Amino acid sequence: MDYDITDLGLAPEGHRRIEWAGRRMPVLEAIRARFEAEQTFEGKRIGACMHVTTETANLMLALKAGGAEVALCASNPLSTQDDVAAALVDAGVPVYARRGEDNDTFYSHIHSVLDTEPHIIFDDGSDMTTVLHKERASQPIVGGMEETTTGVIRLRAMAEDGVLRFPVVAVNDSDTKHLFDNRHGTGQSSLDGILRAANILFAGRTVVVAGYGDCGWGIADRAKGLGADTVVVEKDPVRALSAAMNGHRVMTTDEAAPIGDVFITATGNIHVFRAEHFLSMQDGAILANAGHFDVELDLVALDRISESRREIRDNLEEYVLADGRRLLVVAEGRLVNLGAAEGHPADVMDMSFADQALAAEWIFANAEDLDPGVYVLPEELDQEVARLKLEAMGGGLEQLTPEQEKYLASWQEGT
Ligand code: ADE
Repeated sequence: MDYDITDLGLAPEGHRRIEWAGRRMPVLEAIRARFEAEQTFEGKRIGACMHVTTETANLMLALKAGGAEVALCASNPLSTQDDVAAALVDAGVPVYARRGEDNDTFYSHIHSVLDTEPHIIFDDGSDMTTVLHKERASQPIVGGMEETTTGVIRLRAMAEDGVLRFPVVAVNDSDTKHLFDNRHGTGQSSLDGILRAANILFAGRTVVVAGYGDCGWGIADRAKGLGADTVVVEKDPVRALSAAMNGHRVMTTDEAAPIGDVFITATGNIHVFRAEHFLSMQDGAILANAGHFDVELDLVALDRISESRREIRDNLEEYVLADGRRLLVVAEGRLVNLGAAEGHPADVMDMSFADQALAAEWIFANAEDLDPGVYVLPEELDQEVARLKLEAMGGGLEQLTPEQEKYLASWQEGT
């Protein structure tokens, strides 16, 4: 079996950690058991470009149990957990991923997975999809799945331009994905990354969160919960207003730069904090990015205006400006939750990856009727994932009485 990982000797640790995550993924486990019984993916090849984590490993193993041949590469050069990559190879899944791989290796690994001629692909951030459009335009693909907001934005732009050449499920847009993974997952794991890298106390600090989509919502909410004075920067008036009414101060990047102790970007946009902001920040300010790509902090500009830089702790780089002020960048400005911590906990990835697994089944079942375009999973599947998760968490779901059903269905009963 072909593969490219850091150290196969790390497999035993990877197996232990994959088992630990699997215990907190009951919905995916139920789907895995059904896939195994039905051999849902017999004869199918699946290529995945995702963060190589314990949770992704459980998804890959569920697909393999369902009869698929699966190959995996990383969706970010810094998020690979090398022990997980080793355990997957040991379990018979070809993996092409090494933590810290350079850009050329990152792309050559995407090509290695595509060389396995997958029928469908799982993508996180749309890099594999982009390669399939720019460099391998004649390779046949039945369909795809996209995990993240940034990837879905790219896909919609491709569909709008009429260039998207196969159907893709925007898994991110399922309620059981973005309302939980993006809010609760990103909220907790981004702070986890900053805590592991810098070991600071959030209470009493001014934490500036740029972007108030689901991810920014989660980050600002959790920072506030830890006692921080939270500031939100947002361009959309409705989102900005909702941040204000959720108790955050709302201001511009120019206003926030001199007062923040910690800056966290989650906008999906480029150069949110730039040279002019760095020049007005306080000594000791910490900068982290929770967005998919490492473009939100202009680190080229920061490097240009700095006299020196050094790694002061693992995943924490100190830049010293000409006047001696020190700015600290977490995980090279790459997505902080996976660069400096382990990503979202399994409990929430359970739903995201249950959605992914069901989307793969759905796309094979419906491929012949689907034109190229961006699709959202049917609402029944979303509801089913929520119902199973709630059940696993011990929550009871209220059933309406016949009288209540009738009342809701009628427009005549007003009083
Ligand atoms: N994205 C965010 N957290 C993740 C995780 N734990 N595994 C895979 N992808 C992720």
